[in-house]
Amino acid sequence: MRRPHPVRRMVPLVGIVATVLLLIFAFVLGLVSFGKMRQVVTEEFNGQQLVLAQNLAALIQQDLDFLRRELAVLNLSPSLQGGASPALVNRLKVTLASIQEGELLEIRSVSPSGREAVVLDGSGVARIEPGPFNDDPCFLWALVAANRGRILVDDSPRSLRERYGGRPLLTMATPHYRAATAGVGSRRQDEFSGVLLFVLDASAIASRFTDHARSGSTGYAWVLDERGTFLAHPMSSFVGKNAFEVRPRLNPAIGFEGINAIMRDRMLTGQEGTGSYTSGWHRQAVGPIHKLIGFCPVHVDPERPGRRWSVAVVAPVSEVHGLVASLFMRQFFMQAAIVLAILAGGISLFRMERRWTRLKKQREREVNLSSRLASLGMLSAGVAHEINNPIAIILGFTDVLLETAPPGSQAHEHLKIIERQALACKTIVENLGRFARIPEQRDETADLNEEVRRVLAMVQSTLLTEKIECRADLQDGLPRAMGDPQGLQQVLLNLITNARGAMKARGGTLTVRTYRVDDRVAVAVRDTGHGIRRQDLGRIFDPFFTTKAPGEGTGLGLSISHGIVEKTGGRITVESQHEDDVGAARSGATFTVLLPVVGDGS
Ligand SMILES: Nc1ncnc2c1ncn2[C@@H]1O[C@H](COP(=O)(O)OP(=O)(O)OP(=O)(O)O)[C@@H](O)[C@H]1O
Ligand SMILES: [Mg+2]
Repeated sequence: MRRPHPVRRMVPLVGIVATVLLLIFAFVLGLVSFGKMRQVVTEEFNGQQLVLAQNLAALIQQDLDFLRRELAVLNLSPSLQGGASPALVNRLKVTLASIQEGELLEIRSVSPSGREAVVLDGSGVARIEPGPFNDDPCFLWALVAANRGRILVDDSPRSLRERYGGRPLLTMATPHYRAATAGVGSRRQDEFSGVLLFVLDASAIASRFTDHARSGSTGYAWVLDERGTFLAHPMSSFVGKNAFEVRPRLNPAIGFEGINAIMRDRMLTGQEGTGSYTSGWHRQAVGPIHKLIGFCPVHVDPERPGRRWSVAVVAPVSEVHGLVASLFMRQFFMQAAIVLAILAGGISLFRMERRWTRLKKQREREVNLSSRLASLGMLSAGVAHEINNPIAIILGFTDVLLETAPPGSQAHEHLKIIERQALACKTIVENLGRFARIPEQRDETADLNEEVRRVLAMVQSTLLTEKIECRADLQDGLPRAMGDPQGLQQVLLNLITNARGAMKARGGTLTVRTYRVDDRVAVAVRDTGHGIRRQDLGRIFDPFFTTKAPGEGTGLGLSISHGIVEKTGGRITVESQHEDDVGAARSGATFTVLLPVVGDGS
């Protein structure tokens, strides 16, 4: 029961320290890569926002192109030739119906003089609206001959904006020409016959696609016109308002320098790109929120590069960072699990190796002891034989002398002492003889439970007088064990006598338990006595090793028991805690005898 070498005891500690260091290293490494990964994923995410903004810009662009084409097609219609005719009204209705509801507010056909216009709006009823329209920028542009066949995209006149509650409007205008001939044979000449106009809801066009756009799980899109007016935004109160002014009004605690610079220097100058800024809210959340933005321009009028809108897609940084953090944690826990699994494997391998070494050493000790016992057995047989006769003679003569010495006389007293000491020698010699005469293994078998019961019956009353409680825990149905019943009884008696000795002064509990272990049956004798000192554990089976006072023990009980058990092919082991190490409440010893069962060839 020697303790493992201190260096070996350090191994698990070193393993644990190494694992903790490894985990810390993995964590730090993870943190560094987490920072890098966060940066890469953030850039990637913002790149995706830019792609989304480009797609939205392309969709808006396509819608504007479609409206321009519709205006051009309508301009070719012959029904425009005849002034405010029913044919014209019908044609205008067809166009109005073919355009997405809400985008086209009115179609206007202004007379060539600019004095009146035929107007068809969402009500479906055409009306003649009196002018004058000839000072409208659209009209003046249409009068220029070079603009024939071209389309102007412009703001609507204030009168119109007021009619539609100040909503951001857009006008598309194209000059209309009527075919006319100066006379027979002369060249055909077309003459200016008015201006055709679409009055469009800029906000409806912008928000048609952006309203449903999503970036990440909470990100959204918004659109600015070239002056920085919101054409589309999830907060409807922003639409029609100047972005530079409305934001600080909603949350004055935030400085919007970041987004203002992005809008002023990049979005309104027609650039596309990505960036980040601090906002004052995001959906329901209010407060400083760091956001990512991707933006792309929409060219509203291809002929005038200055006329452009800008689509922005934004999302809070936390959305990306939260995702990366959860990925990082998952990766870290996986790494930790692998490291811990390796550590657990290492520890169990180490423990297996230690157990194996212990078993090997124990076996070596047992073999050693067996051979020592064998040679001692032979020696003892000779000594026993030689001493037996002189003792018998001493006792014989003492007996004769005792008869002659009167009781109470000094001679009688001295003779009694000689007799007692000679008898003690006789016991030693008998024990030695018994040790030397350990019977050879014969094919005898024993019922372990039965032998335990017999021995306990013998010692029960003695134990009671010594305040020792006796408990028997015997497993039913045990197979028969190899070994002769007398030998087994002697072993049990020796173990119980030793246990008694250890509990003598203070009382305690003696427990005898039988059970089966694989191909063996076992009996364990456990006491709550003072226990065996660690340094004595390796010697207690040695012949003549005793800690008892001279005359109280010969030190042969355990070596004889060991010999008997070994002969059956069994083993005897001990576990003990000495009271000096663990205190009297937890001290004690357990001797376990393992015997092969009958029929087991091993
Ligand atoms: N149950 C036990 N509790 C504490 N010590 C024990 C116990 N069993 C044995 N020992 C120790 O082992 C020693 C050797 O025991 P062993 O039975 O061989 O000899 P002994 O009991 O001293 O003398 P003998 O058995 O010849 O009377 C004991 O002296 C004692 O120190
Ligand atoms: Mg003994």
